[in-house]
Amino acid sequence: MAKPKITVIGSMNIDMVTETDVMPNQGETIFGSVFSSFTGGKGANQAVACARLGAQVRMIGCVGNDHFGKQLLEALQKEGVNTDDVKTVTHQSTGIATITVCDNDNRIIVIPGANYSLLPEDISALKEMIADSDMLLLQQEIPFATVEAAIKLANELDIPVILNPAPAIKLPQELLEQVYIITPNEYELSILLGLGDNSDRSFQRLMDLYPHRIVMTGGSNGAFYKSLDGEIKHEPGRKVQAVDTTGAGDTFNGALAVKLSEGSPLDEAVKFAVAASALSVTKLGAQSGMPLRIDVERFIETQN
Ligand code: RIB
Repeated sequence: MAKPKITVIGSMNIDMVTETDVMPNQGETIFGSVFSSFTGGKGANQAVACARLGAQVRMIGCVGNDHFGKQLLEALQKEGVNTDDVKTVTHQSTGIATITVCDNDNRIIVIPGANYSLLPEDISALKEMIADSDMLLLQQEIPFATVEAAIKLANELDIPVILNPAPAIKLPQELLEQVYIITPNEYELSILLGLGDNSDRSFQRLMDLYPHRIVMTGGSNGAFYKSLDGEIKHEPGRKVQAVDTTGAGDTFNGALAVKLSEGSPLDEAVKFAVAASALSVTKLGAQSGMPLRIDVERFIETQN
């Protein structure tokens, strides 16, 4: 089978990761245990996930003209991702994420830097290249206007879009209608529906409110999705020894994009994506634990 062509439009960050046994309270200073830095950013992570799982991947993004920018480009190239359309700017430095890992969970603050210099006009200038894709994969760590331009162009070109709405904002209905599949977690779904943070976030209620194609990630609970006949289905999570959940959602999105662009039905694609994201949390760093295709296939086989 020919490799599916996936274009990822999104962020590229260097992740500064601090591991700690307890989270500090406000105003408190504590000692952490380990500091590490990794290549990351939701866009770059999803590009790596797609490449390891067997797609031909092109990355569209923006980095600063600095050491971190070069490091990110090299890391993608090593994975076989085409970086010809990653822009380098001199007026902003490469995006950074500070990540605190504690108790198998994380808290992330992103400084977008050069990611915010990826503009709608950059997307229209790449129309011909984007036209040669089977699937477009987007997140929201770049300007919203750029996300919007990419979704509109993909619609014009009849290319399906998977939108991972993270970080979450309320999204206009007409934009959601142009997306093939949206992949929020439960928290992001309530935000994108404009229900705010304190609403009743039972997934059943949220998914009933959302009329379009949706796959909701549920962390260790796997994923929930609406089948074509409107029925809500659950793909349970897989048991693994979790070390760091950073990038699990990105692995999920990459895996879903690869399977769907190969023509797999939604239930099969979600099963594959849940297994891939479970494997990804067994190592520290967003990209370090992302599995190869063969690993995911073996993992599914051994668990059946
Ligand atoms: O989804 C994980 C990613 O979110 C991290 O790699 C970090 O860079 C932030 O973008």
